[in-house]
Amino acid sequence: MAFVAGEADGLDVATAEARALRLDEADPGHRHLFHVPPADGGEHPESAYLAGNSLGLQPRATRDELLADLDDWRRLGVEGHVEAGRPWLPYHELLTAPAARLVGARPAETVVMNSLTVNLHLLMVSFYRPAGERTRIVIEDTAFPSDSYAVRSQARFHGLDPDATVVRLKPRPGTDTLGTEDVLDFLAREGHTVALLMLGGVNYLTGELMDIPAITAAGRAAGAVVGWDLAHAAGNVPLALHDWDVDFAAWCSYKYLNSGPGALGGVFVHERHLGNPDLPRFEGWWSTEAATRFEMTPESRPPATADAWQISNPPIFAMGPVRTSLELFDSIGMPALRERSLRLTRWLELLLDEVTADRPLQVVTPRDPARRGCQLSVRVGAGNAAELTKRLRHEHGVIADAREPDIVRFAPVPLYSTYHDCWRAAAALAATVAQSSTKGQPR
Ligand SMILES: Cc1ncc(COP(=O)(O)O)c(C=O)c1O
Repeated sequence: MAFVAGEADGLDVATAEARALRLDEADPGHRHLFHVPPADGGEHPESAYLAGNSLGLQPRATRDELLADLDDWRRLGVEGHVEAGRPWLPYHELLTAPAARLVGARPAETVVMNSLTVNLHLLMVSFYRPAGERTRIVIEDTAFPSDSYAVRSQARFHGLDPDATVVRLKPRPGTDTLGTEDVLDFLAREGHTVALLMLGGVNYLTGELMDIPAITAAGRAAGAVVGWDLAHAAGNVPLALHDWDVDFAAWCSYKYLNSGPGALGGVFVHERHLGNPDLPRFEGWWSTEAATRFEMTPESRPPATADAWQISNPPIFAMGPVRTSLELFDSIGMPALRERSLRLTRWLELLLDEVTADRPLQVVTPRDPARRGCQLSVRVGAGNAAELTKRLRHEHGVIADAREPDIVRFAPVPLYSTYHDCWRAAAALAATVAQSSTKGQPR
């Protein structure tokens, strides 16, 4: 792209708008497939929406999909289970193959169900089996709090002291992100005590993409089970969970998968674990073979697929949005999205470099594109994140999100974000944070 050839000539944010518009013409993305919220401030009618790492935008196809499901219910009542346009009994199966393609899994290894933390718990029922000296759960110090609460409560559930059981891996002093080497060093030293290694594939705070295959290989070689929280990775970066030999993974669909607030999550269980009768699992009627479900027997007959981790009959109205979203990913393809993501993110990075050079701001996301998805996190000074984000929105129509105390996250999502959105974010940041001696303070 033009901006790459021109990188050396420096980028002046004040005059980069025309360049952003030219880049959008050459590399337009798929914004027309989405509803973009109107701006709540500034001079542009639409928001510069850079918060798809938190909640993705609504695809235009979603409303009709939901209405069709509602109509089936109105028209058919209970008969919709078998007679709906997309019959409800096997509905979840429609999501399995596209979800598997998205994360590089086999269909048998994948199921869409429940919410993320619920799924992590259900997976830990099977895969966190403390025994002897191997009792510890390893997460990153900047793990999302829900994961932290989940693993601590799992330790308690097994009668263990969470403070002694949960290890929080910290970046080396003076660095913002956890290096692969830090994880590997820990495993080399203390891997024999680890029952479960469960990290975020892309860190929610820093946007760092972990080396999932290398860490998985090292964790498994150390005798631990290796699971991944892919909330910020699914739909953001290419994944190959089967080939990487990951034991299990879970993700949500409301961020990069644009399936709506609280949308259903996805689960991956490697095929080496499927059908293993020795693995504990919590069960319900959706854990049993579909063909025997209505035989009403007291014993379940779980299939040798990830479907065996299901418990309840699924919420059909929550499945339509996931289906339409996965269809988009299938039709455009993750490789093409990743390429556009690399271009957009680099553009935003160049602009942010200009803005942060003479302001009390710092990009904390890794510089190497191979170590990040599309999110760039900016440290803005303790206590400033929420206020700054509010001003970006109300004064400039730029939607980013704050993580207290000091991080503002910007995610140019390749499906719908534009080069002009990135320019607006950088220009708004430049206009909001003073260059002068008020270091650390948004003006
Ligand atoms: C990394 C990560 N893990 C877990 C969660 C919690 O997700 P849920 O509320 O769907 O369980 C989130 C939510 O944003 C997240 O970002």
